[in-house]
Amino acid sequence: PRHIAVIMDGNGRWARKRHLPRVAGHRAGVKSVREIIEASCRLHLEALTLYAFSVENWKRPRSEVETLWGLLRHYLHRELPELKRNDVRFQVIGRIDGLPAAVQNDLDVAMVETAANSGLRLNIALNYGGRAEIVDAVNSLLARARKLDGPLEVDERMLGEHLYTAGLPDPDLLIRTSGEMRVSNFLLWQIAYAEIFVTDKFWPDFHTLNLLEALLDYQKRERRYGGLGDSTKTAEPDRELVAVNGRETTAEPDAGELPSTPLRQ
Ligand code: FPP
Repeated sequence: PRHIAVIMDGNGRWARKRHLPRVAGHRAGVKSVREIIEASCRLHLEALTLYAFSVENWKRPRSEVETLWGLLRHYLHRELPELKRNDVRFQVIGRIDGLPAAVQNDLDVAMVETAANSGLRLNIALNYGGRAEIVDAVNSLLARARKLDGPLEVDERMLGEHLYTAGLPDPDLLIRTSGEMRVSNFLLWQIAYAEIFVTDKFWPDFHTLNLLEALLDYQKRERRYGGLGDSTKTAEPDRELVAVNGRETTAEPDAGELPSTPLRQ
């Protein structure tokens, strides 16, 4: 896949299972965020989009919401040098002007300082809603129409160019942790043809090996985009390969550890 989107779910349940406060789950979740970003760099993924805070998440207790902003700011301060070293281009999607000013400021710094990077495009979805995004795109198109003399006829490509994800390929693979079979208002337009991988693991228990497992599962699927596909294809290859953007590497999700050499060649 070129673009993977992730609904990071289950931090709270991970904590509850351990009789810890919910924020301990979010703290542990940040470790998975770091690990999955690093793995995505090594796999030469083009884009990774992580759902960190939805427009509905404001309903959570104020203290939890504030802890999330604190964790995000702490993450940005600590990880920005590493993101730069890995050539990551950091971006955010969502109604960013609704975030606390200090958070917006830190996000701006990270975006500006990584703007020229050409590696992984990392999108963090914050104050994000899929319907809100489509509404914002429609309003942006209406604003454009008002500036034009003639009528504006909208097609799918044009609407896509007014989404927060303009310029990015649509996600090929949507991963959701902690077992829920829901899309939860995430990238509604963009996941039209995405393959969906749901794992029972809670987000803090989701590690690189689980990402590889999702990739192997994805590669066994036949993507037909509404067509008939290639029925002459035979199933299982002898050896399982993880190939991302043309680079291949062997990976065995049950082996218990990662190959010691970097995954790219
Ligand atoms: C879902 O678990 C998780 C979130 C809503 C927050 C995700 C945020 C982070 C991992 C930390 C900050 C982000 C970055 C990018 C550094 P939940 O609380 O909904 O779990 P539950 O469903 O078990 O209650």
